Amino acid sequence: MEKNITILGICGSLRRDSFNRALLNYAATLEIEGIKIKIADISNIPNFNQDMEKQMPESVKVLKDEIKNADAVLISTPEYNRSIPGVLKNAIDWASCPYGENVFDEKPVATMGATVGAFVGTAIVQYHLREIFSSLNAHPLEKPQLFVANAPLKIKDGKVIDDDTKELIKEVVVKLAEWAKRINQN
Ligand SMILES: Cc1cc2nc3c(=O)[nH]c(=O)nc-3n(C[C@H](O)[C@H](O)[C@H](O)COP(=O)(O)O)c2cc1C
Repeated sequence: MEKNITILGICGSLRRDSFNRALLNYAATLEIEGIKIKIADISNIPNFNQDMEKQMPESVKVLKDEIKNADAVLISTPEYNRSIPGVLKNAIDWASCPYGENVFDEKPVATMGATVGAFVGTAIVQYHLREIFSSLNAHPLEKPQLFVANAPLKIKDGKVIDDDTKELIKEVVVKLAEWAKRINQN
């Protein structure tokens, strides 16, 4: 029997009514056979301080273990000022330390994102993340790409209501699981 693929979702927004969390929550409710999705909590991760990397705070240890134990990571993030929200970059920096213990090393990763804007739907932050993945030696899934513009029209009361968006989230999850099997050879 094939083993389940476990995907860890990480949201780049701490906002209570986050559109990006709604994308992840939808992914987690899909119940696709052979795929399990868990969502990380990065709200308690303190500001990165290299002085603390040898005595990591408990919340960082938990996140690092979750990433290490997952077959793949799925990041859903807003774009802040055309780049990566500080809370997400902070969590990634912790996950990459100390030297030699980068839990993103060889990790299959995918990104998606939602914005209230009508323009390019978080494309810029998602490409910035790809640059970071290169430094982390993570393996980004290239397609499908999920850039959700005009989020308030597609997500209401914390639920994804747009059928095309739902379909694309499902495709991202399925392709990420296939990608993880190829990378991890399982
Ligand atoms: C500090 C800040 C900067 C933002 N910069 C951008 C941006 O560069 N591009 C964009 O599309 N939206 C930008 N937004 C709007 C976000 O798309 C919007 O706040 C979105 O709802 C955030 O995602 P969330 O609902 O998951 O919290 C910005 C919002 C904030 C608070």
